[in-house]
Amino acid sequence: IVVDPFDYVVFGGTGDLARRKLLPALYHRELDGQLPDEARIIGVSRRDKADAEYRDDVRAALTSYVRADELDPAVMEKFLARLYYVAADATSSDGWTTLAATLDEGRHRVRAFYLATGPDLFGPISERIKEFGLITDRTRVVVEKPLGKDLASARAINDEIGKIFHEDQIYRIDHYLGKETVQNLMALRFANALFEPLWNSAHVDHVQITVAETVGVEGRGDYYDHSGALRDMVQNHILQLLCLVAMEPPANLEAGAVRGEKLKVLKALKPITARNADTATVRGQYRAGASPTGAVPGYLSEITDGESRTETFVALKVEVENWRWAGVPFYLRTGKRLAKRMSEVVVRFKPVPHSIFDDAAGALAANELVIRLQPDEGVKLQLMIKDPGPGGMRLTRVPLDMSFADAFKVRNPDAYERLLLDVVRGNATLFMHRDEVEAAWTWIDPILEAWGESRDTPRGYTAGTWGPSAAIALIERDGRTWHEDT
Ligand code: BG6
Repeated sequence: IVVDPFDYVVFGGTGDLARRKLLPALYHRELDGQLPDEARIIGVSRRDKADAEYRDDVRAALTSYVRADELDPAVMEKFLARLYYVAADATSSDGWTTLAATLDEGRHRVRAFYLATGPDLFGPISERIKEFGLITDRTRVVVEKPLGKDLASARAINDEIGKIFHEDQIYRIDHYLGKETVQNLMALRFANALFEPLWNSAHVDHVQITVAETVGVEGRGDYYDHSGALRDMVQNHILQLLCLVAMEPPANLEAGAVRGEKLKVLKALKPITARNADTATVRGQYRAGASPTGAVPGYLSEITDGESRTETFVALKVEVENWRWAGVPFYLRTGKRLAKRMSEVVVRFKPVPHSIFDDAAGALAANELVIRLQPDEGVKLQLMIKDPGPGGMRLTRVPLDMSFADAFKVRNPDAYERLLLDVVRGNATLFMHRDEVEAAWTWIDPILEAWGESRDTPRGYTAGTWGPSAAIALIERDGRTWHEDT
């Protein structure tokens, strides 16, 4: 369905995020015929550049970041013709009247400002937007992580943007919420009668959430070294996944209802502080080792000053203190340079209360629901069945396995494709409310403090493994194992 006419103004229009993600995502929406004729994309950055030069840059970016078989020359030209460029400086008035004049041609369109810049510019850009009268009643502003490095800085950022825009004009992106399989978590839970009755501490033994990457810091060492895995992945993406798994059914899919339920989960997280950080957390940092593309150096030789206590891996044991989840641990782990790229949510059910089978049948494995986010998106339910054949009752574990690629034969859209157009549609369900961001930091801060006070350094792990052995011990202490640890 074609969306309403819009002007997307991308600050940081020549930057990495725009080139790798935002413009390819909008190109794909063009390919699917979803962009209305009047839609424009206006790149803004400091350097002077003609529209034609910007279009050439974007053509090159699309050629690098869109798969060759999806590059259609006619669609590409149509898309490039929507692009304009304005040089403007967030910290001065330069260029803003040009931007205002450009936007004036489309006063009645949806107007979305995407701040694909560092958070230090969110405030100044917002102020200029107001000063030059660019806010219409169909204006939205989109911001993205890092939304702070702790609660205080997150509040400061939210305050700065909040001075200019109302909360319902602000779209805070967590791109994990735009991933197909993440949205499928909601479909699976609330569109099927099967799971919800079992979705609680009476039937669930524990939950695991893994986001494993094989990449290292990918030239982002300066940012990453001030961030680390807890801030970079857990505070946002992984806590959002946890919320979707743990939340109560919202009354409907509207932003207020869904975000309200997620917020309750964040507020129910049992604090991890200096008292329990030793048993509930493991930090790691990769050493030289292997990746799928060959030998790779250790983290310390990838960053500039060669010395760092920043974690590139984290494993946590988390509890959600409410009626539904009391006593059910959520084990979370994420890291760079791990054995394989794999993100999944695993819900392990409790064993049957009594086995009627004798020893010859073999051990009964617990049922397990695995929601694979990437790669090979899909859902797998592990069941026990009888081994075929006349040899008596022998049991075996077999998956009911649904791969989205096989089931649907359609391309899996990138998360940004959905999210960028949701902004135009004015649908904020898959974006974070200010309260969620702040509640997440409220829970993360004491962990950072505990680590800061501790004399321990992150434990080394060899690149290409599953992280430090202490992470395996974290779950094995409870008599459980990480899923597919091979
Ligand atoms: C980003 C992090 O938010 O998410 C990166 O800053 C990480 O460090 C990336 O690599 C992972 O996203 P995806 O979509 O590739 O799983």
